Amino acid sequence: MKTHTYAKLAMATALGLSLAAPAVADPVDDKLVVDGMLELVTTTSAPDHLSDAFDTIYSGWHFRSDETRDLQRDDFDNPGMVFVDQALDSWNAVDGSAGQSCASCHDGPEAFEGLRAQMPRVDAKTGELTLMEEYINTCRTERMGAEKWGWTSNPMKNMLALISLQSRGMPVDVAIDGPAQPYWEKGKEIYYTRYGQLEMSCANCHEDNYGRMIRADHLSQGQINGFPVYRLKHAGILSAQQRFKGCVRDTRAETFNPGSEEFKALELYVASRGNGLSVEGVSVRH
Ligand code: HEC
Ligand code: HEC
Repeated sequence: MKTHTYAKLAMATALGLSLAAPAVADPVDDKLVVDGMLELVTTTSAPDHLSDAFDTIYSGWHFRSDETRDLQRDDFDNPGMVFVDQALDSWNAVDGSAGQSCASCHDGPEAFEGLRAQMPRVDAKTGELTLMEEYINTCRTERMGAEKWGWTSNPMKNMLALISLQSRGMPVDVAIDGPAQPYWEKGKEIYYTRYGQLEMSCANCHEDNYGRMIRADHLSQGQINGFPVYRLKHAGILSAQQRFKGCVRDTRAETFNPGSEEFKALELYVASRGNGLSVEGVSVRH
């Protein structure tokens, strides 16, 4: 822990982020088994590219309260499942001038088993870094003749949750080499750049200070294997793009927007820091 970044964190307190106590608490030692059947990998060895920073990577689940963690053990208790059901309704609903629904072409959402674990990725046809949101909107506009969904709109985020659930329990495995490499490098650079009035980078909080308490929050490693998450505070689904925006805003910075080239690259990079953790489908956060 560098004193310098701790001073920044203390300054964050002064600006209203309220560092509750300079306490450090270990991630909770616990296992996540869903519905008594599916055990998820929430702790594992850091991927090679992170070995200078961490030995072990942890899902954000380990940093939440007993009550919040419990909500994720049972799909009946997981409030995110209501939104998955809403997405299933829109999956089956005809929309747009072509008279099609997602189901017309893809049958059931199970068709996307495994996809979430590899996302974001460089699309083989376009050669461009592609987020799940973009696949969905391409189908809506080019194949259905329907309106785009906004990046952080509810139908979009709910659909992300439905598709993510199809990969629950699979290890995150995003490619960082080959055509993905330049995007990954760009994302990494953003991760370590200090932004805003507080001059803080993602790494200052989620790498140098994870385990500390900030704003009555137990600071995690900022992993996105659990995304999209159900956020109790918002009573709805939150996407990774939206979370990034919130975190940058907290450093009093001009933020990049969801869907910007910067945040797309950042999503690839942050996802790669969780390679080996399970996709959690819809996780639950406070
Ligand atoms: C001033 C400290 C701070 C900075 C800087 C910061 N975050 Fe966060 N972040 C938080 C806090 C506090 C939370 C909520 C508690 C937690 O999950 O760590 C959070 C949560 C997250 C989460 C949700 C993790 C989960 O499992 O629910 C992600 C992802 C994340 N941050 C990514 C980032 C990224 C990417 C950046 C840089 C653009 C960043 N954060 C910058 C403080 C920060
Ligand atoms: C008219 C047929 C059609 C409709 C309707 C349609 N899609 Fe697609 N979708 C496709 C085709 C074709 C592809 C490209 C498959 C490929 O490149 O291998 C695709 C690709 C995708 C992918 C990327 C899959 C992958 O493995 O790369 C996602 C995600 C997706 N669609 C989601 C949706 C959703 C959600 C809806 C409804 C909102 C929808 N699609 C509606 C035909 C359709």
